[in-house]
Amino acid sequence: MFKKYNSIGKEEVNAALKVLKSGKLSEYFASYPQGFLGGKYNQRFENELKKFYKVKNAIVVNSWTSGLIAAVGALDINPGDEIIVSPWTMSATATAILHWNAIPIFADIEPETFCINPKKLKGLINKKTKAILTVDIFGHTSNIKEIKRAIKGKNIKIISDSAQAPYALNNKKIVGTESDIGGYSLNCHKHIQTGEGGIVVTNNSKLANRVRLLRNHAEAIVKKQNLKKINNMIGFNFRMGEVEAAIGIEQYKKLKRIVKSKQNIAKYLTSKLSKLDGLKTPKITANCTHSFYTYPLVLDLDKIKFSRKQLANELKKNKIEGFVEGYTNLHLLPMYQKKIAYGKKGHPWTTYSSKARYNKGICPVAEFLQDKAFLNFELCKFELKKKDLDLICNTFIKVWKKLNH
Ligand SMILES: Cc1ncc(COP(=O)(O)O)c(C=O)c1O
Repeated sequence: MFKKYNSIGKEEVNAALKVLKSGKLSEYFASYPQGFLGGKYNQRFENELKKFYKVKNAIVVNSWTSGLIAAVGALDINPGDEIIVSPWTMSATATAILHWNAIPIFADIEPETFCINPKKLKGLINKKTKAILTVDIFGHTSNIKEIKRAIKGKNIKIISDSAQAPYALNNKKIVGTESDIGGYSLNCHKHIQTGEGGIVVTNNSKLANRVRLLRNHAEAIVKKQNLKKINNMIGFNFRMGEVEAAIGIEQYKKLKRIVKSKQNIAKYLTSKLSKLDGLKTPKITANCTHSFYTYPLVLDLDKIKFSRKQLANELKKNKIEGFVEGYTNLHLLPMYQKKIAYGKKGHPWTTYSSKARYNKGICPVAEFLQDKAFLNFELCKFELKKKDLDLICNTFIKVWKKLNH
């Protein structure tokens, strides 16, 4: 059994205790300006994040699912509009679109980075397309440059779901910061955590204000702000608690070191596993870094004589934990297959006569990886020592010898 990973130390414990002793666990109020930005630790955390991400606005929320919903709502989205999204992501990426009665359109992924394939956008963009929601999956950046090229001259925004990549670089810029809106998850599975939590970043101050409004009961506040553009200003309570914010401040002091340690683990694994014929180790695009939330592997089925299932069974037999077959194909979930979301009558698809297709075959790369070739090592789950890494690598070598003759 590998030791469970835990990023929380005495600094976080002390920070949380300080807030608890103050009795001020939240200072939000559905009003403006008083209480609109929350308490001391929410505001301090946001200021630290602005510096860390080098952005004009950082907005903390109670989860990145909330952040995604606020990000989509902050754009000029109308019911029935389309947003192009990756099928190879956590389900909340796409439901954030449906919550505004807009339609998710799935674009296939690149076989090596697993991020949305910019080449697939052209065939999917039409006059209903309002945004591309790209995901920096497993910690590797999406190809933002090519996505921007694909939407050049069109009124289409980019949202980055960088939940799994809180600190990965794309040409020296931190992922998520080059889009109209980006953001990160602070849930308990990530490199750093606040239990539950999320961060929205944007250099667009109008969008930032709309996200802040959506976080805090927008409809009750727009009048006090004298806001003219009130579409989608149906607010939520997406506020972060002060304890979480105080923990977040401490966690961010550790983030770069933590990401470096995950990168070193990945480097060691790759140095050994890349020697196995038929096993593709993670690709890192030139001028980018990978934050290795997970360590994604692909089997080259033309080169090996066994199936993914056989390999997974052998790993299990040898008590190697953390390897998961496949990831996800969102378009194949029952909700999309049956087109049943709000109510029983197919809203929003039927209401807006959507021609969105979710049948098997629309994302062949994601489907093939899911069905046959992809194996994900959940690197962030464990505190891995050199002896653990050697055990993993030696077991792979042993299994390869056994199955591939
Ligand atoms: C890619 C991706 N998007 C969105 C989310 C949702 O984030 P949260 O759990 O903070 O709501 C996650 C969480 O695992 C994720 O991995």
